[in-house]
Amino acid sequence: MREGAHPGRIAAYPAQDLSLEATRAIGRLCRDTRRRVGRKSTTREPIIQEPEPLEPEATRRDAGVTESSRANRGWWDRNADEYQIEHGTFLGDDRFVWGPEGLDEVEAELLGPPEDLKGKDVLEIGAGAAQCSRWLAAQGARPVALDLSHRQLQHALRIGGGVPLVEADAGALPFADGSFDLACSAYGALPFVADPVRVLREVRRVLRPGGRFVFSVTHPIRWAFPDEPGPEGLSISASYFDRTPYVEQDEEGRAVYVEHHRTIGDRVRDVVAGGFRLVDLVEPEWPAWNTQEWGGWSPLRGNLIPGTAIFVCERD
Ligand SMILES: C[S@@+](CC[C@H](N)C(=O)[O-])C[C@H]1O[C@@H](n2cnc3c(N)ncnc32)[C@H](O)[C@@H]1O
Repeated sequence: MREGAHPGRIAAYPAQDLSLEATRAIGRLCRDTRRRVGRKSTTREPIIQEPEPLEPEATRRDAGVTESSRANRGWWDRNADEYQIEHGTFLGDDRFVWGPEGLDEVEAELLGPPEDLKGKDVLEIGAGAAQCSRWLAAQGARPVALDLSHRQLQHALRIGGGVPLVEADAGALPFADGSFDLACSAYGALPFVADPVRVLREVRRVLRPGGRFVFSVTHPIRWAFPDEPGPEGLSISASYFDRTPYVEQDEEGRAVYVEHHRTIGDRVRDVVAGGFRLVDLVEPEWPAWNTQEWGGWSPLRGNLIPGTAIFVCERD
């Protein structure tokens, strides 16, 4: 769940100052800074010390586990501010939204009835600012919010709520076997990793017997279409079967953002190889109330083709 266009470099920020107002100011600063590049600064304007880097090149090429992880950590650290400014209101500080369609766990109950969450240990993977974990805590669950990106977790701290935060890669979970009753992930980690089976095996390991893992990803069919919200996003432009990762790379050829495509069949096989049973595969329909676009997700496309796939998995 990201914007189609790479937003560019985020200016340096004071780590301790993360009030929403300061964050908005950072967002404005970034945009203004981009506009100002090339102009002489006055004493009252922020001093620009480096030239704006070139826009990364978007390509399709292989990207392994380490390269994908490093690229995505950097991308989410640089872009967390803009992400939260742009999508924070839609996500809500303490709602559990599965994707841009706005499917809410309150109505979906994919983790089970909310009253059954009380007292459950829940791991949220790729938690971002931990909005879902905050909702889980409000139901009486004991969530832990894990993310690769330090800056995303700083936003979790800014919003508050006392959810325990862990900075780690989903491919190497720093928890003992059988630590959680449930795990969940709303577009966290799985779209970005080169080896999803490794993540699934890790999640299975830290779940107790009978545990459930529910995760959402971009619906695989979307990979056959341009990532555009308008009519241009409705004509097939690539093979659905082409698993070559989407990579944005800098002028040295270093990946700065990576997304991995799996077909529906691949995802089902991954779930099974990870040691789970697939209990349900939910394709949320675009609801009439949602008039908001999110990158390539829009009412126009959402009414015609699925945008999100949610896998409901259980371990024995
Ligand atoms: C689209 S955001 C989703 C965040 C949150 N669930 C939401 O809906 O806003 C994806 C998140 O996954 C995190 N992420 C990406 N790769 C990861 C990995 N390998 N391990 C853990 N988190 C990862 C990113 O840092 C980012 O915060």
